[in-house]
Amino acid sequence: MAIQSEDLHEEKFFIDPFPVWEQLRNESPLFYDAVDNRWLLTRYDDVTEVFRNHEVYSARPYERIFTDVIGPTMVQMDGKDHDIRRSIVAPVMVGKKLEHDYQPMINDVVVELLAVLPQSGQVDAIKAITSPLPLKIIARMLGMESSYDEYLHEVANLVINALAGVEPAKSLGKAKHEEFAGRIDDLISQRIVSPSDDLITEITQSRTKEGQGLSRTEIASFISLLMVAGGETSDRAIANFWYVLLKNPHVLEAIRKDRSLIEPAISEFMRRDGVVVYEDRELNEDVEWYGTRIAKGEIVRVAMMSANNDESVFKNPRTFDLYRTDLNLGFEKRPGGRKDGVAHHVGFGLGKHFCIGYHLARAEMSTATNYLLDRYENIAISKGHEPTLTVQWFHRFLDKLVLDVS
Ligand code: HEM
Repeated sequence: MAIQSEDLHEEKFFIDPFPVWEQLRNESPLFYDAVDNRWLLTRYDDVTEVFRNHEVYSARPYERIFTDVIGPTMVQMDGKDHDIRRSIVAPVMVGKKLEHDYQPMINDVVVELLAVLPQSGQVDAIKAITSPLPLKIIARMLGMESSYDEYLHEVANLVINALAGVEPAKSLGKAKHEEFAGRIDDLISQRIVSPSDDLITEITQSRTKEGQGLSRTEIASFISLLMVAGGETSDRAIANFWYVLLKNPHVLEAIRKDRSLIEPAISEFMRRDGVVVYEDRELNEDVEWYGTRIAKGEIVRVAMMSANNDESVFKNPRTFDLYRTDLNLGFEKRPGGRKDGVAHHVGFGLGKHFCIGYHLARAEMSTATNYLLDRYENIAISKGHEPTLTVQWFHRFLDKLVLDVS
């Protein structure tokens, strides 16, 4: 039977979306989802085309989600507006900065979180490790003391709840961001007087070649964006990664014995599973896909998780293969794509808006996994606590991850 819009919005799909996407890739590669009023693309080459062609496919849909709550940020911008902001913040997020300054912070935070766990027994991995980890790291990057951790969690939660645009959550999140922006403003004033090597100082000082920088309001909005874009995503990525490893014990054993396999395992996990399901783009002009004309102003939704499981690109896509030859098993690259039978996954997006925190997210995933394997010889999902991995809104994540460890 042909897929209907309702099939994309029912419990069965949320628990296992892969058969529906497979059918769409084969039968309806352009599908009109009448429930969400979106044109869905599910094939790898179509998804990468949309990500690349930023002149036609605008990131404007983010405007409706973010602007009212945290103000305008790079994620919703196109063209030069985006380029300027990205070139100001990107150098302080990746590469040497990450390896030299942030990696030691990640190590410290992971050690701190694991130190309070029992030698053996039951561990709520989301509560104890994956949820606090990303925000603690962002706090350290900003040069904030650990006394700020709870506050940052509160800000992130209220802002995230506000993004659905429903009152009173929307007003509460907006008010919290404004209060937080005031604190960031105080930090900026302090760093102007006494600069440090933290993210606030660096973003405050960073300039484009033409000498443009971010205003104080923009810096606060960008930091709220980091907490939203880099908090829940990394939390869910680490938990999903561990769950997938536990469900594929041969992979877990292989990486336990040879830790250099953690990096390829992360690439394969991001391809096969990952976290982010969709991204939306608004059409700047009329386009035609598979003989159907779509008008300027309409929304095209790219299903990245489907593209990453496209059987015409990745052989036996639902198999977790640590030694895959059709996937780039190294670090992701912003232009991504595929060449000579080797493809990059699109779990961190692609092109202009390619995830700015991908290096940080990978470092969090690999460090937490390494330390967890060092700490415990035996790790298993607790009996009676089998988690469910479901698609909700734009993410796929676990309802719980309770482990028996020793
Ligand atoms: C495994 C964890 C993560 C996943 C799966 C992920 C995924 C993504 C994806 C798919 C995009 C592209 C959005 C689009 O094209 O519309 C993106 C962009 C972005 N991500 Fe991540 N992300 C992760 C972690 C992080 C972290 C740790 C940070 C920072 C602390 C971060 C910050 C951002 C920002 C600021 C953007 C917007 C970039 C731009 O507009 O140029 N992300 N992310």
